[in-house]
Parts: sequence; structure tokens; C-alpha cells
Amino acid sequence: MKAVAVLLALLVSFQCAAGYQGFIRASGERFVDDNCQEFVPLGMNTWLLLESAVGTLIDSPMNPYGLDTVDFTMEVAANNSQTTARVFAHGINSTLALQPEQGVYNEKAFQALDYIISRAAHYGIKLILTFGDEWNTADSKINYLEWGNATDNSNEFFTSDTLQGFYKDHILTMVNRNNTYTNTLYKNDPTIMAWDLMNEVRCECFPVSLYPAFPTNVECLPTCGDALDSWVQMMANYTKTVDPNHMVTVGYEGFWGEYDADVQYNPGNGWAGITGQNFSRNMAHVEIDFTEIHYWPDEWFANQQDITYDAAQFLTSWFNQHAAVATALGKPLLLEEFGKAVNNTAAGNGVQAAPSAESIASVRDTYFSTVYQQANDAMTANAPMSTLRGAMWWQWDMTNTPFVFDGGNLEVSYQDSTFQDVIAPQSKTILGAAAATVDSCTKINQKTGTTATAAAGRRLLGA
Ligand SMILES: *[C@@H]1O[C@H](CO)[C@@H](O)[C@H](O)[C@H]1NC(C)=O
Ligand SMILES: *[C@@H]1O[C@H](CO)[C@@H](O)[C@H](O)[C@H]1NC(C)=O
Ligand SMILES: *[C@@H]1O[C@H](CO)[C@@H](O)[C@H](O)[C@H]1NC(C)=O
Ligand SMILES: *[C@@H]1O[C@H](CO)[C@@H](O)[C@H](O)[C@H]1NC(C)=O
Ligand SMILES: *[C@@H]1O[C@H](CO)[C@@H](O)[C@H](O)[C@H]1NC(C)=O
Ligand SMILES: *[C@@H]1O[C@H](CO)[C@@H](O)[C@H](O)[C@H]1NC(C)=O
Ligand SMILES: *[C@@H]1O[C@H](CO)[C@@H](O)[C@H](O)[C@H]1NC(C)=O
Repeated sequence: MKAVAVLLALLVSFQCAAGYQGFIRASGERFVDDNCQEFVPLGMNTWLLLESAVGTLIDSPMNPYGLDTVDFTMEVAANNSQTTARVFAHGINSTLALQPEQGVYNEKAFQALDYIISRAAHYGIKLILTFGDEWNTADSKINYLEWGNATDNSNEFFTSDTLQGFYKDHILTMVNRNNTYTNTLYKNDPTIMAWDLMNEVRCECFPVSLYPAFPTNVECLPTCGDALDSWVQMMANYTKTVDPNHMVTVGYEGFWGEYDADVQYNPGNGWAGITGQNFSRNMAHVEIDFTEIHYWPDEWFANQQDITYDAAQFLTSWFNQHAAVATALGKPLLLEEFGKAVNNTAAGNGVQAAPSAESIASVRDTYFSTVYQQANDAMTANAPMSTLRGAMWWQWDMTNTPFVFDGGNLEVSYQDSTFQDVIAPQSKTILGAAAATVDSCTKINQKTGTTATAAAGRRLLGA
């Protein structure tokens, strides 16, 4: 009897300590669980986790091989106040696509994704999963264009009925995937925090080097902003129709389109306004549950000598202006990607060596601290800055990856000072400022909350 009581008490305390109940949703400008406890997405991008999970990484000290990498990643992350991983739920290298042919899936890759989700659940990590990618050659926009025999590389992806159908088919396959480790359909799994419609979707034309079949389009069509916006709404609407449990967002940088009142806050010399992205307009759709941005000023301002670039000023305006829009829309804002390249002095012939501890500390730690300071300040700030509710860094180091195009100099190892001295302690501080109960949030009944019918009302309950 006593043993049973102790066991019960332990179970109850474990449940509370284990944290979040039900599906993460947006209530006003906060992420919450069923009990209205605030959830703060803090964590890492894992670009190569799926590839790693099927064992393509070689000879890595932290990754004996394959599936062990997933456990190691999740365990270290969970031990260091990381709550969330953004996982590219598809191949990066064309030799390892999840969907090598339209409608044909690599079962081994899907099982790797099953494993990632099951282990994330075990370690209490939530996942943001992407349906596809603007870049690269696997599970990417260019594959859909090829499958549809498209002839125009900027707009057809968004406008063609055939290509829209292919993308919807993929979304349907993903949400109805029956996880071979947990026997739970992805759409019913609260481990998944949200779906990204596509990583960094835009209308910008593909470089000929990446896709020789298409001639270079010097300029995207002026209608591309409209096409992208309609596509975002259509795909978000479709995702929520076939999976009412999960949040949906876009997954992109968050540039403002030409003629938008905020276009002046874009980086660079005008290119960002013609990518088809249009933050305030795209994020306003009711089907988009929360707003998100990426932050890559080094890349965005590269090779633009005509631009006077004040890093501190851009940091402030990029965050504040997006937060102001998010506040106006009544949705949370998530910094979904930020990172900092560190020079690798020993690099050459495509072989990467680790950047020095000094350069990591002076270049990257300083930069990461500044970004975390924004996220930390937001936790206790007044609106609009208070709308920023989480930060996700780029990216978890998969040492010795054969996929050299990431350069290696953007990756953060758990052994780096960046992780030990900045990411872990700053995340802990930010989590400490999360609300035990978010005001004006309506709790969801656990008994009915997991059914699709009740879940469809989640937004109404949370509104
Ligand atoms: C995570 O923390 C637990 C408890 O402190 C510890 O036993 C375990 O070794 C840690 N795991 C890693 C990979 O550091
Ligand atoms: C694309 O072209 C190939 C070869 O002509 C054809 O077999 C296929 O059906 C076409 N696909 C679509 C979606 O039209
Ligand atoms: C998922 O797979 C398991 C094991 O094969 C099966 O028992 C279960 O019925 C499946 N779930 C659904 C909804 O198909
Ligand atoms: C961006 O959206 C605004 C309205 O929010 C609109 O006025 C503008 O034309 C759009 N720009 C593009 C390039 O689509
Ligand atoms: C999808 O759009 C239709 C038409 O606007 C709307 O009636 C429906 O409620 C939307 N579905 C979701 C899940 O947002
Ligand atoms: C990397 O090295 C180049 C050449 O020395 C230099 O111009 C650049 O500023 C360095 N970048 C960083 C991030 O340190
Ligand atoms: C993709 O994987 C193959 C086989 O491992 C490798 O030869 C190739 O270099 C990889 N491609 C890229 C772009 O990394």
C-alpha cells in the first residue's frame, strides 16, 4: 500500500517535472501547453540529423554511427536546457532523399525520422519539422519542378495545380506516417511542436549551376509575391485540414516584399524585397499559428560595398520590427535560425579543421551572447519586444560529415565554449523567466484535448 502510494507520488511528480501536457499551441503571443504553461522554443537546428540517423556519417568522435547520434544529440541537448530541435525532415544529399521519386519514399530514411521523433519524445525535446527545402537537391523545390516537367523556375512551383498536388500529397504522407517505433501517427504525436511549410521558401531563381535545365531568370516575375502568398495560405490550410493538432508556420527568413510599409527594414540593397517573401502579409493568414524569422546579416550584407551596415542597429531593427508586426497580428515570434561563421584557418582542399578556441570565443560567443540577450530581454520586456518567445541556433555539429557544403565553420559542438558558456546558461536563464501560467490562456481538457475534433477548436479556445 505504502509502496503504491510512493510510486503514485513519484509518477505524479515525474509528470509535472516532465513538463508539457498535450500539443504545444499559440495562445495570443505565447506558446503554451494544455495547462497554459508557457513553452519556450530554445534549441538547435539539426540540418543533418536524418542523414546521420541512417548511418551516413563516418568516423565521428561523437557519432559512433547512425542511430546513436540521435540519442547523443537529444540527451546532451535536454541536459543543457534545450527544449526544441528544428529538424530538416528530409534528405540533404540527393543520394539520401526521403522522397527520391514523386510519391515514392525511402523507407529506411522514414524509419530514421521515426527514430528521431521517438527519441526526442524520450528526452523531452519538441520538434519543428520541415516538409521541404528551397535549397539543395534532395526533397527540395527543384525536385517538384522536375517531377512536374516545369519550364519556368520561379513561379510554377507555386501556381501549377500538378505541383501543388504533389506537395499536398507529401504533406498528407507525412502527417499520416505511422511511426514504426511508437505506432503513433505523426499527426497525433505531441512531440512535434510545429510544421514548417518549407525551409526558406522564395521565388528567387535557381542558379544554373544547381539546376542546368532552366535558363537563368534574371528577375523573378512581379507576380511572384502574390503566388508565394497564395501558396503559403493554401499549404497551411491544407496542413491544418489534414492535421488539426499541430501548429504551422512558413520556415523562412521573413523579408518584407516591395511596397510593404516595412520594406526599409530589409537587409541589403533591395534584393530581399523581390524574393517573393512578404512577412506581414504571409504571416497574417489565420492558418499560420506563429511568426518566425531567420537572422543571417553576414550573408545578407555580403559583397554589398554600397551598403553602410551598422550591425548593432540592424540587429535591433530586425528584431523590433518583426516583433511589432507579430504584436499587431497577436501571434508569437520565434527566431528560428541564427548562426555565425568562424574562420577555419587550417581549411583547404575541402578538408575542414576545427576553428581555434580563441576565434570561437571572440567571434561566435560574443555574437551568440548578443542574440540571446535579445531573447532574454524579451521575456520580461513590454510589447512589442515581448512577442519574441524563443531562439534556435545554427547548427548542431555533426563532426566529419561528408557533406562539405556547409563549410563546417557554422557548426557548434557541444564541447565548444559557445555551447558550454553561452547557449546552455543563457537558455537556462530564459527558461527561468517563462510563465507558469499564461494570462488569458484557456486550458484544454486532457480527456478531450487529444481528439481531432477538440483540437480543431484549439485556436478558438486559445484566441
Ligand atoms: C545527462 O544528464 C544525466 C543526469 O545528470 C547524466 O547521467 C548523463 O550522463 C548526461 N548525458 C550526457 C550525454 O551528458
Ligand atoms: C513529365 O514528362 C515525362 C516524360 O515525357 C512523362 O512521363 C511524365 O508523365 C511527365 N510528368 C507530368 C507530371 O506531366
Ligand atoms: C500503426 O501501426 C501499428 C503496428 O503495425 C498498428 O497496430 C496500428 O493499428 C497502426 N495505426 C494506424 C492508425 O494505422
Ligand atoms: C507585400 O504586402 C503588402 C501588403 O502587406 C503589399 O502592399 C505589397 O504589394 C506586397 N509586396 C509584394 C512584393 O508582394
Ligand atoms: C481553409 O480555408 C477555408 C476557405 O477559406 C476555410 O473555410 C477553412 O476553415 C480553412 N481551414 C483551416 C483548417 O484553416
Ligand atoms: C575570415 O577571414 C577573412 C580573410 O582573412 C576575413 O576577411 C574575414 O573577416 C574573416 N571572417 C571572420 C568571420 O572572422
Ligand atoms: C552526397 O553523397 C555522396 C555519397 O556519399 C557523396 O559522394 C557526395 O559527395 C555527396 N554530395 C554532397 C553535395 O555532399
